[in-house]
Amino acid sequence: MPSALPEGDPAPADGRLPAEVAASVGRRPLGIYLHVPFCTTRCGYCDFNTYTAPELGPDPGASRVGYIDRAITELDLAVRVLGADAPPVSTVFVGGGTPTLLPPADLGRFLAAVEDRFGLAHDAEVTTESNPDSIDAAGLAVLREAGFTRVSFGMQSAAPHVLATLDRAHTPGRAQEAVREAWAAGFEHVSLDLIYGTPGESPADWSQSLDAALAAGPDHVSAYALIVEEGTRLATRVRRGELPMPDDDLLADAYVAADERLSGAGLDAYEVSNWARDDAARCRHNLAYWRGDDWWGVGPGAHSHVAGLRWWNVKHPAAYAARLAAGASPAAGRELLDADSRRVERVLLEVRLAEGLPVDALTATERRRLPDLAARRLVTDAYAGPAGRVVLTRAGRLLADGVVRDLLD
Ligand SMILES: C[S@@+](CC[C@H](N)C(=O)[O-])C[C@H]1O[C@@H](n2cnc3c(N)ncnc32)[C@H](O)[C@@H]1O
Ligand code: SF4
Repeated sequence: MPSALPEGDPAPADGRLPAEVAASVGRRPLGIYLHVPFCTTRCGYCDFNTYTAPELGPDPGASRVGYIDRAITELDLAVRVLGADAPPVSTVFVGGGTPTLLPPADLGRFLAAVEDRFGLAHDAEVTTESNPDSIDAAGLAVLREAGFTRVSFGMQSAAPHVLATLDRAHTPGRAQEAVREAWAAGFEHVSLDLIYGTPGESPADWSQSLDAALAAGPDHVSAYALIVEEGTRLATRVRRGELPMPDDDLLADAYVAADERLSGAGLDAYEVSNWARDDAARCRHNLAYWRGDDWWGVGPGAHSHVAGLRWWNVKHPAAYAARLAAGASPAAGRELLDADSRRVERVLLEVRLAEGLPVDALTATERRRLPDLAARRLVTDAYAGPAGRVVLTRAGRLLADGVVRDLLD
């Protein structure tokens, strides 16, 4: 089951922004996220807001057919709410679920609607996630032709028994083949997602996955520690004792192995869990999340952020369709962050970036804790000096959440 939404305040039916938020539209770059809430089957570890066809049932409002038209209706609402000061869109990211379960032409139609309503910056980054089994060379060519510049494939592992524990149905080698097809189609950037720490995954299995990912030649890799999310099949199996909980020491070893292997192959960590060949290969859409820019999230359960106002849409595709059909905003709730919550959020996110967090984002008390963190080799000495920055060492990246806990008041 997908996890629950936050509570927050009620959101107005017309989606209107508070005056002080509306007044600052256009001061930061704007991104558009499209959530595609459909999957063929649900992987046992995943609690994303996504639904299989049997879960959705026969309700036409919840179907894949017509989904992009509903998403474009929300885009029209975004144009009205953001008003004339909205800048051309810098980044578009289509995620899921499995975006490539929709016909590639539908994703192209959404992108054309973004361009028509907002305009696209001349160097806009346009990404879609893809499950490699749900796309082929012809589909990738259509996406590229439609203006997508970047594709991110969910590979997870190269070890068949690990994929089986994750409930992932993959044709062996398909992710690597999809990377080659994406380059051949002319994509500017190609990424692979990996997961480590799956119960039963040995260091040799993880090493094999890293080798296979690198051999495919992506210019970006994301590697995440497996999270056992409440309510998933994986969590049930762990609770029953059928599978062990991922072991913290093994997770740390796997992270170090990933960082050594990926950086040895020329992909450097620019965020704790993300490695890129060079600056151009970094995911600008995700960087905008981490830097607190503005973005509008279209689709069921999608989150948006403009100038410290966060809101989130109703989760179920049928409820989402019903709101839009009634001419109302699909937002379920929202919250306006105060200055202190925004600062804490900034510390949490920016400290994870390779460039680090400017020291002047910290209070005087917090700054006094930096020498101790440096002595424990969790942050580098880049914090000292006039343009000081808090930059995590590799050991610090492994314990990023703990470093933030130790740092904050
Ligand atoms: C929502 S998926 C979208 C891509 C596509 N649906 C797929 O799975 O190939 C995005 C990524 O989130 C990561 N992910 C999802 N659930 C996770 C979990 N419980 N622990 C760690 N990573 C997870 C996976 O690496 C996955 O590729
Ligand atoms: S394909 Fe991706 S989004 Fe769908 S259930 Fe699996 S991990 Fe989750």
